[in-house]
Amino acid sequence: MADIPQEDRAVDALDRAAAEAELARLAAAIAAANLAYHRDDAPEISDAEFDALKRRNAEIEARFPDLKRADSPTDRVGAAPAEGFAKVTHARRMLSLGNAFDAEDVVDFDRSVRAYLGLAADAPLAYTAEPKIDGLSLSLRYEGGALVQAATRGDGAVGENVTPNARTIDDIPVEIAGAPDVVEIRGEVYMGRADFAALNARQAEAGAKTFANPRNAAAGSLRQLDPEITRARPLRFFAYAWGETAAPLADTQMGAIGRLSELGFATNPLTALCTGADEMLAHYAEIEAQRATLDYDIDGVVYKVDDLALQARLGYRATTPRWAVAHKFPAELAWTRLERIEIQVGRTGALSPVARLTPVTVGGVVVSNATLHNEDYIAGRDAQGAPIRDGKDIREGDWVQVYRAGDVIPKIADVDLSRRPAEAQPYGFPQTCPDCGSTAPREPGDAVRRCSGGLICPAQAVEKLKHFVSRAAFDIDGLGAKQVEQFYRDGWIAEPADIFALEARFGSGARQLKNREGWGDKSAANLFAAIDARRTIPLARLIFALGIRHVGAQSASLLARHYGTWEAVIGALDTAAVEPAYAASAPDKAALAESPAWSELIGIDGVGAVMARSLVTSFAQEAERGSIDRLVAHLTVEPAEVQAADSPVAGKTVVFTGTLERMTRAEAKARAEALGAKVSGSVSSKTDLLVAGPGAGSKAKKAAELGIETVDEDGWLALIGAS
Ligand code: IVH
Repeated sequence: MADIPQEDRAVDALDRAAAEAELARLAAAIAAANLAYHRDDAPEISDAEFDALKRRNAEIEARFPDLKRADSPTDRVGAAPAEGFAKVTHARRMLSLGNAFDAEDVVDFDRSVRAYLGLAADAPLAYTAEPKIDGLSLSLRYEGGALVQAATRGDGAVGENVTPNARTIDDIPVEIAGAPDVVEIRGEVYMGRADFAALNARQAEAGAKTFANPRNAAAGSLRQLDPEITRARPLRFFAYAWGETAAPLADTQMGAIGRLSELGFATNPLTALCTGADEMLAHYAEIEAQRATLDYDIDGVVYKVDDLALQARLGYRATTPRWAVAHKFPAELAWTRLERIEIQVGRTGALSPVARLTPVTVGGVVVSNATLHNEDYIAGRDAQGAPIRDGKDIREGDWVQVYRAGDVIPKIADVDLSRRPAEAQPYGFPQTCPDCGSTAPREPGDAVRRCSGGLICPAQAVEKLKHFVSRAAFDIDGLGAKQVEQFYRDGWIAEPADIFALEARFGSGARQLKNREGWGDKSAANLFAAIDARRTIPLARLIFALGIRHVGAQSASLLARHYGTWEAVIGALDTAAVEPAYAASAPDKAALAESPAWSELIGIDGVGAVMARSLVTSFAQEAERGSIDRLVAHLTVEPAEVQAADSPVAGKTVVFTGTLERMTRAEAKARAEALGAKVSGSVSSKTDLLVAGPGAGSKAKKAAELGIETVDEDGWLALIGAS
């Protein structure tokens, strides 16, 4: 770009005339940078330079508010790559799919569906099988037949509003007739291979950026802030699913696909109905055979239970449906040289080896790193000591075969011993933390070495802080990984609580921060406002943000919904820490019977003994607890959302025992929890209801002794309104 304004006088030193002139120059420069980036896909300045221009512009505007221009870059919604699109909260979450990698996984999928539903292995059960399109998913909301919103998947809960862009895609009707009044049609935006090749040729000719593969091209073309650019790109759309609907589309998946087609959407012609695993695998082979001749990229075959009533019964795990699976095609492979092995220290202290590779293209993507998992993996054995890669170890200097499976980090499939350099030595995995020098022992049964430095280890502290500010945690605007690293280095924050003391520490003028590279009055004030906005935080986010090992976002929500308040969480974990089951390394029945808080904790669906122990240990550990308490002192913790209270079982603790005849135990449990009940494995004074089928034994007896209400399966179904 020719004309980046070079003014570097402090904003305070500018007079009105100079400020006005500079604002004009900045507006022009930012607009030019935007065009280069968005319209031409050929950025001329770096993101950092772009951000600096925007910041300077905002600072001058803050000092001379009346000089703000009508075309101020500050107000151009979404004009900047950093600002992006408006957010859309999906009415129904957009989920991903579990994966199957071979025939055995597919047979297991069929088996688990049948087990969940309580169907015999030979009972008729239909599935659809269709190509998995390698594009990006899009949800189209129609109200009264008119397209009112198009949103990308985003993190599944919140996506980006790309409505004007979607309207430019020919395959997406802006009006549909005969649909339910409200309906969300979901499917995949993709780019055909021939169109992709032609687009890249045009881009190259124009000296603009080319795309690595059709999927990147589709994503880059849809996510354009100027919809006219999207219009010029040859995007297409297959419909295969739906979100919120005012009325069901059909009774079966196949019927729904037919309905989508009637409504005017393109549906995939290779969709077939199959009965059982054998037919699914046969259709997979058929699709795989056609793969090379299709005009679009596919990366597998998706199987879905055909009966929508059964889909509803099967429901969802944390992020994937139980009623569908993606059978992936084998990953693409490439050979390259492993230049060196580096160790990264994670937030829980895990020492993770990473292979730095000579960059190589695998399936259209340049790969320069691969995960090496842990020291056993490098040595050529699995957790049980059995050989992997025929026992071949991995050494620096080796030629290795890398592969990518789906979106995950590349992995190493094989080592070519014939090309191993004579001087290559077996890799000596560090026994101490490369960052803080503390010992890094390996607990029995753990594949991973962990730095024992805890909070004194800078790598752990920084990773914990990065996790703390991450999107699913505190999500503080303007405080990302980069800023956290800077603040940590400068000694301003060492633990999460320090974030909330930043402003007080600097004084409201934020003099020190202001003098830092990249920070001005306005941005410092914005940061403090963003931090303040998070002083009130939902319980689930707080639990997740603590970064406790084994406790992910989903588990944090389960805990929050179970205990309701922060005080209840702390109370439960403190009590569990002194109970017998916690002291016993593998809690047996006797220990559990003596440990109500512990039993309650591991009775929460989705919380196992390993997670429970990790939670209780973290809270009981003095340094860690100190850090948690100091943090919470700055916060108002919002109680967890009240469960769907319209069910009579919401908030009740239910125990199932004996044989259930109309559903499996897994289904009963999942449904009870969906209604807000807590399902526990053992009867105690906290149990509200026992559901006892035939053959109920000691639990029924104990419930009777404790005077706990007991119903049979029909009584239970009547209670939850499902009889
Ligand atoms: S069904 C509840 N069907 O794969 C899950 N997904 O790995 C609904 N995808 O996010 C998805 N082709 O972007 C489904 N025929 C197909 C698909 C498909 C591609 C994508 C979709 C989804 C991802 C999950």
